[in-house]
Amino acid sequence: MKAALKFLALSAALSASAHAAGVTLTMDCGSGTGFQICKDGAEAWAKKTGNTVKMFESPNLTNDHLGVIQQQLAAKSSDIDVYMLDIIWPGLVGDQLVDLTNKVPAAEINAHFKGIVEANKLNGKLVAIPWFTDAGLLYYRTDLMKKYGYSAPPKTWAELATMAKKVQDGEQKANKSFTGFVFQGKNYEGLTCDALEWLVSFGGGTIVDSSGKITVNNASAAKALDTAASWVKTISPAGVTTYAEEDARGIFQSGNAMFMRNWPYAWSLGQSDDSKVKGMIGAAPLPSGGGPGAATLGGWNLGINTYSKNQAAALDLIRYLAGPAEQKRRAIEGSFQPTIMSLYKDQAVLKANPFFSSLYSVFTNAVARPSGPTKGKYNQVSQAFSTAVNDVLTGKSKGQAAVAQLATNLARIKGSGW
Ligand code: GLC
Repeated sequence: MKAALKFLALSAALSASAHAAGVTLTMDCGSGTGFQICKDGAEAWAKKTGNTVKMFESPNLTNDHLGVIQQQLAAKSSDIDVYMLDIIWPGLVGDQLVDLTNKVPAAEINAHFKGIVEANKLNGKLVAIPWFTDAGLLYYRTDLMKKYGYSAPPKTWAELATMAKKVQDGEQKANKSFTGFVFQGKNYEGLTCDALEWLVSFGGGTIVDSSGKITVNNASAAKALDTAASWVKTISPAGVTTYAEEDARGIFQSGNAMFMRNWPYAWSLGQSDDSKVKGMIGAAPLPSGGGPGAATLGGWNLGINTYSKNQAAALDLIRYLAGPAEQKRRAIEGSFQPTIMSLYKDQAVLKANPFFSSLYSVFTNAVARPSGPTKGKYNQVSQAFSTAVNDVLTGKSKGQAAVAQLATNLARIKGSGW
């Protein structure tokens, strides 16, 4: 009897620490299109556990978002307990995040794609748990494919350019704003993602390889960049060199583009009632330039601020948000791609996102940016790369000169090692 009472008291204490009611947490939920869906999830947890979650609205562009988090961490601020973290950040902020290795049960961690879990490790520490993943896709207008006599989306960039031009010329007769292809051409992290896809698809490598060697100075990489530059002002508007994800989506979703490169979140928004292209969208793998077509691996993860004063409750919150029920809800409501493998067999998830099964191999073969090998210097590497690419897109330089100069700049950033 005594033992049973002791056990009851112990388990009550344990669940009290896991769900300690009455705690107020602050969570970084990003901004823009994903904010409300994130907030709904956090509030569902708060209601279930008797806690409160305040939302911190962070900048929409990942570079600006990183700046805010770095500032907070540099000041050792405990203001934000839970951060949403880009897959490329563990090397940049991971040393100020709580090690989750022995805090999240192994079975729960092993339910996620192994590669994504590995990408969230820094020096053996698990600094975040996967929340959703991302891979670059080619969106296209199924109605216009039919109208212009095309039966399948383009397999190569050359085919894309031909198709985009034909549809653009035809549509512009009635709609001057219509354009062939929109993508992320602004000088920021999003351009690094798009341009990595171009490079890999031309056989031009990944800027820096997995051993840390700078590989970008090669003819295929140069050709990839020159090809992308040839789209500007022919099948893409001049303004594409200033577009981020949401600029491209705005144009595509208002019915003014044939093709768009974007992440999976654009699917559910494109199919919403206020979208002009609802029911007219297809999603395909990105085209090839001779090498294998490639999708950049993106995605977001949840970690706990090492200076947080509410780490037990924060742990409970991130386990809930990264768990199967919440990932399923987010996939159905917002096309946020699960990191939990079993959800790719869930009928409701697949019904809302048919491309999750047809493009499954695109997701599992997505190419990582070189954040692993370049560690704490990744941000500088990416900025040097996107600047070089943007210069080629705007005509300030040509592919070959740009990759040669970039290799020199990267060597300087690398110094004696990453
Ligand atoms: C998406 C990706 C992220 C990437 C960003 C670039 O949010 O998930 O990994 O860095 O786009 O804009």
